[in-house]
Amino acid sequence: ERNTAIVLAAGQGKRMHSKVQKQFLEIQGYPVLYYSLRCFQESPLIQDIILVTGEESISYCKEEIVQKYGFTKVSAVIPGGKERYDSVYAGLCECRDCEYVLIHDGARPFVTEEILKRGLQKVKETGACVIGMPSKDTVKLSDEEGYVKETPNRKCVWTIQTPQIFSYSLIREAHDSIRQKDMSKITDDAMVVEQETGAKVALAEGSYQNIKITTPEDLDIAEAFLKH
Ligand code: CTP
Ligand code: MG
Repeated sequence: ERNTAIVLAAGQGKRMHSKVQKQFLEIQGYPVLYYSLRCFQESPLIQDIILVTGEESISYCKEEIVQKYGFTKVSAVIPGGKERYDSVYAGLCECRDCEYVLIHDGARPFVTEEILKRGLQKVKETGACVIGMPSKDTVKLSDEEGYVKETPNRKCVWTIQTPQIFSYSLIREAHDSIRQKDMSKITDDAMVVEQETGAKVALAEGSYQNIKITTPEDLDIAEAFLKH
Protein backbone atom coordinates (compact mmCIF):
# COMPACT_ATOMS: atom_id res chain seq x y z
CA GLU A 1 0.00 0.00 0.00
CA ARG A 2 1.11 3.59 -0.62
CA ASN A 3 0.50 6.09 2.16
CA THR A 4 0.92 9.84 1.83
CA ALA A 5 1.27 12.31 4.68
CA ILE A 6 -0.09 15.81 4.10
CA VAL A 7 1.62 18.12 6.58
CA LEU A 8 -0.16 21.45 7.09
CA ALA A 9 1.94 24.53 7.73
CA ALA A 10 0.01 27.32 6.02
CA GLY A 11 -1.65 28.93 9.03
CA GLN A 12 -0.98 32.42 10.35
CA GLY A 13 -0.81 31.37 13.99
CA LYS A 14 -2.83 34.31 15.29
CA ARG A 15 -3.20 32.89 18.81
CA MET A 16 0.58 32.67 19.20
CA HIS A 17 1.03 36.44 18.77
CA SER A 18 4.56 36.03 17.45
CA LYS A 19 6.24 37.61 14.42
CA VAL A 20 7.51 34.30 13.12
CA GLN A 21 4.71 31.81 12.37
CA LYS A 22 4.50 29.18 15.11
CA GLN A 23 5.35 26.25 12.79
CA PHE A 24 8.76 27.85 12.19
CA LEU A 25 9.57 28.82 15.79
CA GLU A 26 12.40 26.78 17.29
CA ILE A 27 12.14 24.33 20.13
CA GLN A 28 15.45 22.83 21.31
CA GLY A 29 17.17 24.24 18.24
CA TYR A 30 14.83 22.91 15.55
CA PRO A 31 11.71 24.41 13.96
CA VAL A 32 8.39 23.04 15.26
CA LEU A 33 7.67 21.70 11.76
CA TYR A 34 10.93 19.71 11.70
CA TYR A 35 9.76 17.20 14.32
CA SER A 36 6.68 15.84 12.58
CA LEU A 37 8.45 15.77 9.20
CA ARG A 38 11.19 13.69 10.83
CA CYS A 39 8.62 11.20 12.14
CA PHE A 40 7.08 10.73 8.68
CA GLN A 41 10.51 10.65 6.98
CA GLU A 42 11.71 7.87 9.29
CA SER A 43 8.51 5.81 9.23
CA PRO A 44 8.46 2.73 6.98
CA LEU A 45 4.67 3.16 6.84
CA ILE A 46 4.89 6.41 4.87
CA GLN A 47 5.94 6.62 1.23
CA ASP A 48 5.69 10.31 0.55
CA ILE A 49 5.04 13.66 2.17
CA ILE A 50 3.26 16.71 0.79
CA LEU A 51 4.10 19.89 2.64
CA VAL A 52 1.51 22.67 2.48
CA THR A 53 2.64 26.15 3.47
CA GLY A 54 2.07 29.84 2.75
CA GLU A 55 3.06 31.10 -0.71
CA GLU A 56 5.64 33.35 0.98
CA SER A 57 7.20 30.42 2.89
CA ILE A 58 7.64 27.91 0.07
CA SER A 59 11.29 28.70 -0.66
CA TYR A 60 12.10 28.85 3.08
CA CYS A 61 10.55 25.41 3.57
CA LYS A 62 12.34 23.92 0.57
CA GLU A 63 15.77 25.28 1.48
CA GLU A 64 15.82 25.66 5.23
CA ILE A 65 13.79 22.61 6.18
CA VAL A 66 13.41 19.98 3.43
CA GLN A 67 16.91 20.26 1.96
CA LYS A 68 18.69 21.20 5.15
CA TYR A 69 17.43 18.19 7.11
CA GLY A 70 17.33 15.77 4.18
CA PHE A 71 13.59 15.08 4.12
CA THR A 72 13.79 13.13 0.86
CA LYS A 73 10.21 11.85 1.07
CA VAL A 74 8.82 15.35 0.56
CA SER A 75 7.62 15.19 -3.05
CA ALA A 76 5.99 18.62 -3.16
CA VAL A 77 5.90 21.89 -1.23
CA ILE A 78 2.72 23.66 -2.26
CA PRO A 79 0.72 26.75 -1.29
CA GLY A 80 -2.22 26.28 1.06
CA GLY A 81 -5.39 28.33 1.29
CA LYS A 82 -7.28 30.73 3.49
CA GLU A 83 -8.83 28.17 5.85
CA ARG A 84 -7.35 24.92 7.09
CA TYR A 85 -9.76 22.89 4.94
CA ASP A 86 -8.56 24.84 1.87
CA SER A 87 -5.00 23.82 2.67
CA VAL A 88 -6.13 20.21 3.15
CA TYR A 89 -7.87 20.28 -0.23
CA ALA A 90 -4.73 21.64 -1.92
CA GLY A 91 -2.82 18.71 -0.40
CA LEU A 92 -5.42 16.17 -1.48
CA CYS A 93 -5.24 17.46 -5.08
CA GLU A 94 -1.48 16.96 -5.04
CA CYS A 95 -1.63 13.28 -3.96
CA ARG A 96 -0.52 10.75 -6.56
CA ASP A 97 -1.28 7.06 -6.39
CA CYS A 98 -2.14 7.02 -2.71
CA GLU A 99 -4.16 4.45 -0.78
CA TYR A 100 -4.31 6.04 2.67
CA VAL A 101 -3.71 9.70 3.38
CA LEU A 102 -2.64 11.01 6.79
CA ILE A 103 -3.55 14.65 7.37
CA HIS A 104 -1.35 16.17 10.04
CA ASP A 105 -0.94 19.59 11.66
CA GLY A 106 2.62 20.82 11.18
CA ALA A 107 2.10 22.55 14.53
CA ARG A 108 1.92 19.13 16.25
CA PRO A 109 5.56 18.06 16.70
CA PHE A 110 5.17 14.99 18.92
CA VAL A 111 3.48 12.47 16.65
CA THR A 112 5.20 9.08 16.91
CA GLU A 113 5.66 5.88 14.93
CA GLU A 114 3.38 4.08 17.43
CA ILE A 115 0.59 6.56 16.73
CA LEU A 116 0.97 6.07 12.96
CA LYS A 117 0.91 2.30 13.48
CA ARG A 118 -2.26 2.36 15.57
CA GLY A 119 -4.01 4.72 13.18
CA LEU A 120 -3.10 2.83 10.02
CA GLN A 121 -4.23 -0.42 11.57
CA LYS A 122 -7.57 1.04 12.63
CA VAL A 123 -8.30 2.92 9.38
CA LYS A 124 -8.58 -0.42 7.60
CA GLU A 125 -11.89 -1.10 9.38
CA THR A 126 -13.95 1.75 7.91
CA GLY A 127 -11.65 3.95 5.82
CA ALA A 128 -11.63 6.75 8.39
CA CYS A 129 -9.75 7.05 11.67
CA VAL A 130 -9.03 10.01 13.90
CA ILE A 131 -6.38 10.11 16.58
CA GLY A 132 -7.35 11.47 19.96
CA MET A 133 -7.28 10.91 23.71
CA PRO A 134 -9.95 10.46 26.35
CA SER A 135 -10.59 13.87 27.89
CA LYS A 136 -8.96 14.39 31.29
CA ASP A 137 -11.38 17.18 32.10
CA THR A 138 -15.13 16.92 32.33
CA VAL A 139 -16.67 18.52 29.27
CA LYS A 140 -19.91 20.51 29.35
CA LEU A 141 -22.00 21.72 26.46
CA SER A 142 -23.35 25.23 26.91
CA ASP A 143 -26.37 27.03 25.55
CA GLU A 144 -26.14 30.38 23.75
CA GLU A 145 -26.54 32.28 27.05
CA GLY A 146 -23.55 30.64 28.74
CA TYR A 147 -25.38 28.15 30.97
CA VAL A 148 -24.72 24.44 31.14
CA LYS A 149 -27.01 22.48 28.85
CA GLU A 150 -25.57 19.00 29.12
CA THR A 151 -22.71 16.99 30.60
CA PRO A 152 -21.70 14.13 28.32
CA ASN A 153 -20.40 10.96 29.95
CA ARG A 154 -16.66 11.56 30.32
CA LYS A 155 -15.88 8.02 29.20
CA CYS A 156 -17.29 8.95 25.79
CA VAL A 157 -15.49 12.28 25.44
CA TRP A 158 -12.32 12.38 23.38
CA THR A 159 -10.22 15.35 22.44
CA ILE A 160 -9.07 15.08 18.88
CA GLN A 161 -5.53 15.32 17.59
CA THR A 162 -3.89 14.58 14.26
CA PRO A 163 -3.05 12.71 12.13
CA GLN A 164 -6.51 11.98 10.82
CA ILE A 165 -6.27 9.07 8.43
CA PHE A 166 -8.52 8.18 5.51
CA SER A 167 -8.82 6.03 2.49
CA TYR A 168 -7.84 8.49 -0.21
CA SER A 169 -10.91 7.99 -2.39
CA LEU A 170 -13.26 8.44 0.59
CA ILE A 171 -11.83 11.77 1.80
CA ARG A 172 -11.30 13.09 -1.74
CA GLU A 173 -14.90 12.43 -2.72
CA ALA A 174 -16.18 13.90 0.57
CA HIS A 175 -14.16 17.08 0.02
CA ASP A 176 -15.18 17.38 -3.64
CA SER A 177 -18.80 17.22 -2.57
CA ILE A 178 -18.69 19.50 0.50
CA ARG A 179 -16.78 22.28 -1.26
CA GLN A 180 -19.96 23.41 -3.00
CA LYS A 181 -21.67 23.87 0.38
CA ASP A 182 -21.22 25.87 3.61
CA MET A 183 -17.97 24.79 5.25
CA SER A 184 -17.88 27.48 7.93
CA LYS A 185 -18.52 25.03 10.79
CA ILE A 186 -15.89 22.50 9.70
CA THR A 187 -13.12 22.23 12.31
CA ASP A 188 -11.53 18.90 11.49
CA ASP A 189 -11.12 16.49 8.61
CA ALA A 190 -13.39 13.79 9.95
CA MET A 191 -16.37 16.18 9.95
CA VAL A 192 -16.19 16.26 6.16
CA VAL A 193 -16.47 12.47 6.02
CA GLU A 194 -19.19 12.44 8.72
CA GLN A 195 -21.32 14.92 6.80
CA GLU A 196 -20.78 13.74 3.24
CA THR A 197 -20.53 9.95 3.52
CA GLY A 198 -22.04 7.13 5.52
CA ALA A 199 -18.64 5.92 6.67
CA LYS A 200 -18.08 5.38 10.38
CA VAL A 201 -15.10 7.20 11.79
CA ALA A 202 -12.95 5.12 14.13
CA LEU A 203 -11.01 6.53 17.08
CA ALA A 204 -7.44 5.48 17.90
CA GLU A 205 -5.29 6.60 20.79
CA GLY A 206 -2.67 9.26 20.22
CA SER A 207 -0.83 10.48 23.28
CA TYR A 208 -1.13 13.22 25.86
CA GLN A 209 2.16 14.57 24.50
CA ASN A 210 0.81 14.93 20.96
CA ILE A 211 -0.15 18.55 21.61
CA LYS A 212 -0.71 21.30 19.09
CA ILE A 213 1.43 24.37 19.54
CA THR A 214 -1.26 27.04 19.72
CA THR A 215 -0.50 29.65 22.40
CA PRO A 216 2.84 30.79 23.91
CA GLU A 217 2.70 28.48 26.94
CA ASP A 218 2.60 25.47 24.61
CA LEU A 219 6.21 26.27 23.67
CA ASP A 220 7.28 25.87 27.31
CA ILE A 221 5.42 22.57 27.54
CA ALA A 222 7.08 21.38 24.31
CA GLU A 223 10.53 22.33 25.62
CA ALA A 224 9.82 20.39 28.80
CA PHE A 225 8.77 17.27 26.84
CA LEU A 226 12.01 17.41 24.82
CA LYS A 227 14.18 17.67 27.93
CA HIS A 228 12.96 14.34 29.26
N1 CTP B 1 -3.29 25.56 8.73
C1 CTP B 1 -3.09 25.57 7.35
N2 CTP B 1 -3.79 26.45 6.57
C2 CTP B 1 -4.68 27.31 7.12
C3 CTP B 1 -4.90 27.30 8.52
C4 CTP B 1 -4.19 26.39 9.30
O1 CTP B 1 -2.27 24.80 6.84
N3 CTP B 1 -5.32 28.16 6.33
C5 CTP B 1 -2.52 24.63 9.56
C6 CTP B 1 -1.65 25.34 10.60
O2 CTP B 1 -0.41 25.72 10.02
C7 CTP B 1 -1.52 24.30 11.68
C8 CTP B 1 -2.78 23.46 11.56
O3 CTP B 1 -3.39 23.82 10.31
O4 CTP B 1 -0.40 23.46 11.49
C9 CTP B 1 -3.72 23.64 12.74
O5 CTP B 1 -4.30 24.94 12.72
P1 CTP B 1 -4.20 26.02 13.87
O6 CTP B 1 -3.59 25.46 15.10
O7 CTP B 1 -5.51 26.71 13.96
O8 CTP B 1 -3.10 27.02 13.25
P2 CTP B 1 -3.29 28.51 12.79
O9 CTP B 1 -4.54 28.66 11.99
O10 CTP B 1 -2.01 28.90 12.13
O11 CTP B 1 -3.38 29.30 14.17
P3 CTP B 1 -4.52 30.32 14.65
O12 CTP B 1 -5.83 29.59 14.49
O13 CTP B 1 -4.17 30.64 16.06
O14 CTP B 1 -4.41 31.51 13.74
MG1 MG C 1 -6.47 28.25 12.92
